Amino acid sequence: METEVLKVDRDNIDQKIIKKAANLLKDGKLVAIPTETVYGLGANGLDDLACRKIFETKNRPADNPLILHISNIDMLYNLVEGVSDEARKLFDLWPGPLTMIFKKSKLIPDTVTAGGDTVAIRFPVDKIAREIISEANLPIAAPSANISGRPSPTNAVDCFFDLNGKIPLIVDGGESKIGIESTVIDLSEDVPTILRPGFYTLEMLREILPNVRLDDALVDDNVVPKSPGQKYKHYAPKARMQVYVGKRASDFIYKKAKSYKNQGIHVGVLVFEEDIDRFDEFDRISFGSRNDLNQMSHTLFSSLRQMDKLGVDLILAEGVMDNNLGKSIMNRMKKSAAGNIEYL
Ligand code: TXA
Ligand code: MG
Repeated sequence: METEVLKVDRDNIDQKIIKKAANLLKDGKLVAIPTETVYGLGANGLDDLACRKIFETKNRPADNPLILHISNIDMLYNLVEGVSDEARKLFDLWPGPLTMIFKKSKLIPDTVTAGGDTVAIRFPVDKIAREIISEANLPIAAPSANISGRPSPTNAVDCFFDLNGKIPLIVDGGESKIGIESTVIDLSEDVPTILRPGFYTLEMLREILPNVRLDDALVDDNVVPKSPGQKYKHYAPKARMQVYVGKRASDFIYKKAKSYKNQGIHVGVLVFEEDIDRFDEFDRISFGSRNDLNQMSHTLFSSLRQMDKLGVDLILAEGVMDNNLGKSIMNRMKKSAAGNIEYL
């Protein structure tokens, strides 16, 4: 299959491209679409066969449910059973990088929910995503548009790398603004529970719902996560990765990088802008300023993919403290590094 990549200008959206994407989706085909978090691999969320194609194409484990994307709140009511007052309060954050889990309605195919009785719904703020969903007039199932286990794609080139030849169309909307996936919050039970941290942090959500808690698995590595997707190897570059956190991290990475290089190991370094110059002699990418975690989340996945392109054997990366947006970033880095994190 030939994969077409069509670029959309955000300031002047070409309706022909929106229609083309929507028609493919209505026809049961898969289309990669931009969102503000990461690119999604979209399909008609009410079409069982189309959703199965998502699992085949991504090589996604069948027990990992999909998120349905909507383009207005009215679309929600057919898809879920019961919307709590707590959920309604969170509507203030919609459209945006927040996914809410509800009891599912009968309309939802089992493939979407992986056989479970709840469904995840997201109302993205990205204009291109919303126009495609509106034009298709369907809830669009869309996991991140990567092959399972790889870092999520934040631009069309990274989508193409994973999906070339497997889907008919990638809609290129430029770089994803946020760069890490949405916050997933379960509202189907008594206490609202964050299953995956994202741009909206525990601290931010508690300002709206003071009783929000983190899923036990986000606090204790030995607990099985409630969100199936959280238990798999994930966000992983080809190279082995080690993460260091703390005041001495940059010095430590420098010493380690030197010593590995002397052993003939091809090292790649991911550090902050403030320290980047001292790493001249290595393949290196900056996360941006240490004081700008938004920039770090924006560059994290594309930097990991860039390291693979450079062909490094080992990535040495500086991590951040585990709170606010740092928690969401470290949730990804921990998985990318298969738990290899040292606090210095
Ligand atoms: O930002 C995002 O959320 C992106 C963009 C494309 O919208 N999508 C995304 O989808 O990250 P995916 O499939 O890569 O991650 C969805 C996460 C997985 O961890 C999955 O297990 C969890 O949400 N999830 C989906 N439905 C669920 C459900 N009913 N109960 C618990 N967890 C669920
Ligand atoms: Mg994913």
